[in-house]
Amino acid sequence: MAKKRVRHHVNPLADMTEHYFDGFDNDNPITIDVGADRGEFTMQLLEIFGERKNFIVCEIRKPLAEKLRKKFEKYRNVVVFDGDVTRNFENIIRPSIDRCVTIEEVYINFPDPWFKDRHKKRRVITERFICSVIDWVPTQTNWIFQTDQKQLFDETMEMLQSMNGIHIAIFDTSPHGVTTKWENAKIAQESAIYRVRFHFI
Ligand SMILES: C[S@@+](CC[C@H](N)C(=O)[O-])C[C@H]1O[C@@H](n2cnc3c(N)ncnc32)[C@H](O)[C@@H]1O
Repeated sequence: MAKKRVRHHVNPLADMTEHYFDGFDNDNPITIDVGADRGEFTMQLLEIFGERKNFIVCEIRKPLAEKLRKKFEKYRNVVVFDGDVTRNFENIIRPSIDRCVTIEEVYINFPDPWFKDRHKKRRVITERFICSVIDWVPTQTNWIFQTDQKQLFDETMEMLQSMNGIHIAIFDTSPHGVTTKWENAKIAQESAIYRVRFHFI
């Protein structure tokens, strides 16, 4: 019988990689793909929006990030960062915000769920991360979180709802009609997909 490949999650708290990004050489709005895996989601957005948008692609796994750099090397409007996105978010985003560039959308598509209580601080959306960005990420930036993991979704919703200054809206179809690789797999298994969009107010 063929062996099933098991993907081990990378502990983001153990990755100390630091990046800094001055921004793109134009002021087009920026879309961020957090936990991009093989980059299929951003590739489809590129097919729709071309050079009208810039894309920041984040993937903690270094070998994958290397593949992503190759995949996107011919696009001047895409940059790829490895390492933990929550550690690097301010350093790679804030210089663009300081130049008044719009950060349009931050996609957190099907992040690793980290169910055990002692592992929950490894999630991408934690209270600590949101507190670290809520004062400087502009209100027009849309954060999009999608998952098939109900427990993760419920706990994240509860956390967001308990914080002041966040507007939250549940929605039910793939943004821009674009599905992710993980989403396609879950749709094939007939799993429910939970989606929320939020912004700071
Ligand atoms: C379950 S996969 C989902 C991939 C893709 N977004 C999709 O929907 O098909 C989660 C991805 O997030 C990456 N990841 C997990 N934690 C991360 C972090 N703190 N920073 C950047 N990437 C992370 C993982 O390596 C993995 O590729």
